[in-house]
Amino acid sequence: MTQNEPRVFPPDFVWGAATASYQIEGAAREGGRTPSIWDTFSHTPGRVLGGDTGDVACDHFHRFRDDIDLMAGLGLGAYRFSVSWSRVQPTGRGPAVQTGLDFYRELVDGLLERGIAPALTLYHWDLPQELEDAGGWPARETAERFAEYATIVGEALGDRVAMWTTHNEPFCAALLGYGSGVHAPGRTEPESMLKAAHHLNLSHGLATQALRAVLPRSAQVGITFNPGVIRPFSDSPEDADAARRIDALHTRIFTDPVLHGSYPQDLRQDTARVSDWSFVRDGDEATIHQPIDFLGLNYYTPTVVSFAQDGAVKGNDGHGVSEHSQWVGSEDVVQFHPAPGEVTDMGWVIDPTGLTDLLLRFHREVPGLPLYVTENGAACPDKADDAGVVHDSDRIAYVHGHLAAAHKAMEQGVDLRGYFLWSLLDNFEWAYGYSKRFGMVHVDFETLQRTPKASARWYAEVIAAGQLPA
Ligand code: FCB
Repeated sequence: MTQNEPRVFPPDFVWGAATASYQIEGAAREGGRTPSIWDTFSHTPGRVLGGDTGDVACDHFHRFRDDIDLMAGLGLGAYRFSVSWSRVQPTGRGPAVQTGLDFYRELVDGLLERGIAPALTLYHWDLPQELEDAGGWPARETAERFAEYATIVGEALGDRVAMWTTHNEPFCAALLGYGSGVHAPGRTEPESMLKAAHHLNLSHGLATQALRAVLPRSAQVGITFNPGVIRPFSDSPEDADAARRIDALHTRIFTDPVLHGSYPQDLRQDTARVSDWSFVRDGDEATIHQPIDFLGLNYYTPTVVSFAQDGAVKGNDGHGVSEHSQWVGSEDVVQFHPAPGEVTDMGWVIDPTGLTDLLLRFHREVPGLPLYVTENGAACPDKADDAGVVHDSDRIAYVHGHLAAAHKAMEQGVDLRGYFLWSLLDNFEWAYGYSKRFGMVHVDFETLQRTPKASARWYAEVIAAGQLPA
């Protein structure tokens, strides 16, 4: 295929868009919902840019019907959303609250009526605060609570949701939440970070078992990772070793136990100063290693690392992390570098080849496992014209480049089943608050009015044609 031909996708390719509960729902205190760690974190001065919170966000909780109309207008085939744990099980324990479950049931029914397949994620980082108070993810019990929560949601929605994801990016939940502290709950405790990673993995295994027990056999269960696409700064053996270390800590800490049933030995050695890993009990790795039906992959930008001479891990890995030293032991020396090239409004370099590489990696690593791109997109410095329309040619170029990269992987045999653009709406971008806009639909955070951007119209055309223009 040459650059000048349209790229045709298979007729059953799933064209979607993604969001997450805390980033869009608002209604933080309604219907019995209790605070999650993101409510607490965002209400703590200095944690989120501008003091922004998800109290109102896009007010999707009240406007979800309009949002479904927007999705239908775009011709979306699927919508990936997450469930707020403390909305359906406020204390993280015991019985569910009916109003919470009703909200998701109405959302799902509305989607199905419009022919949009719901893709449900159980956990996109909003742990009930009560469970954090009891120890959070570093506590083993949280994994057991998660399985109970999975049963509740599975029983309530299993008859109408076909695609289930346990976790979104456990990397962020564990490493940013408990390691660097730039995400909720904002702890900076190296061993807690490793325990959190393990209990997130364990909770995936337990929840997958719990879901299998209550879902119809046809339901698809998987997990979403954001594996680093780690590139060594040079071809020196030292830089290759730096890349190996960060690949272990960012990616294989999750993918190895989930996909292969054991933690990487090199990771255990690299982190030996921090922990003896005695929190991994006999049988845990087998529990984590449940058969899954698909793997979700999120990709935004690659990471460039080198060996650093002076004993510190420094720089920025493109995900808001600047200090890794305590994670890998003081003798470990890794330097993060800005990758060359144009960047998005996040400062993340635009490199679609990373998506092709990522898809090929997991195609080779787990042959036969269907893959989805569950997130990909760009924050852009959007400006509306007089009519309120954003002409985001930069976002269109980003998505075009990445869809072409995904298509290239498919040409090489990757079983890619679908693509979910991040995001449907401008929303609460975690520690950046409302300062970063990822939506293909503009949201005015004063009036909450939604206005599709040029990228939304462009994406609708791609979906309708089932192909990417040359
Ligand atoms: C991912 C998150 C998602 C969004 C995008 C930009 O790491 O899963 O919620 O913030 O980044």
